[in-house]
Amino acid sequence: MRLVLVGPPGAGKGTQAEFIAAHLSVPKISTGDIFRANVSQGTPLGVEAKRYMDAGKLVPDEVTINMVRGRLAEPDAAEGFLLDGFPRTTPQAAALDKLLADLGTALDLVMELVVDDDEVIRRLSGRRTCRGCGKIWHVEFDATTREGVCDRCGADLFQRDDDKAETIAERLVEYAHKTAPLVDYYGAQGKLVGIDATGPVEDVTVRAIDALRSYG
Ligand code: AP5
Ligand code: ZN
Repeated sequence: MRLVLVGPPGAGKGTQAEFIAAHLSVPKISTGDIFRANVSQGTPLGVEAKRYMDAGKLVPDEVTINMVRGRLAEPDAAEGFLLDGFPRTTPQAAALDKLLADLGTALDLVMELVVDDDEVIRRLSGRRTCRGCGKIWHVEFDATTREGVCDRCGADLFQRDDDKAETIAERLVEYAHKTAPLVDYYGAQGKLVGIDATGPVEDVTVRAIDALRSYG
């Protein structure tokens, strides 16, 4: 299956992507994770992306599309994938459609995680990420994170640079202006399914898997 997860920052895309990708046995491809890996390795791509990420802005389409083109050409993505955080603009969506059409295929489904701004702010301000295994935690909802150590691998947890209040506000503005139009774009293609992303993580996963089942 070729699936896209879309939704505001903090909607739970990364959290749900891990479960859904495992359920579908497809690779999870997160543009945010790829950019962050490049930032921490100090690559030229990372140096360029960091300027935008720290400001809560989107990285330019051309840079992002080229990066995804390369990643989708890897063998593990040939039979299916879950894209988390891409596409994020209408030009990115059009480029993805073209790229897949050139390969003789197309997206199957786009899942929108629906959650309001107050919940997004609550989720992002408490988010912690494991430096070892990348697992996403929350200080309020995952009691073990108070020790600052990952429950799964024992490595330390860190707070993302772009989870500061002013950067979160800018990311929400970028989402409303540039990414929200994708709901109409994919709605018009008949590929969009909306998922209520409020409530416990496990409940959201059940709704997402149910939606995949009804898709077939
Ligand atoms: P990216 O990493 O994609 O960030 P984002 O879209 O802002 O999404 P987040 O990772 O912040 O949130 P999420 O929805 O994955 O939520 P999570 O599961 O972590 O992108 C970062 C930056 O990279 C962008 O700003 C941009 O600069 C650049 N970039 C990336 N892709 C790009 C593109 N295509 N084009 C241009 N630029 C691009 O959950 C959040 C928190 O909530 C966690 O603490 C989690 O534990 C908690 N949580 C999750 N679900 C629940 C629940 N049900 N109940 C309670 N808590 C929950
Ligand atoms: Zn870990």
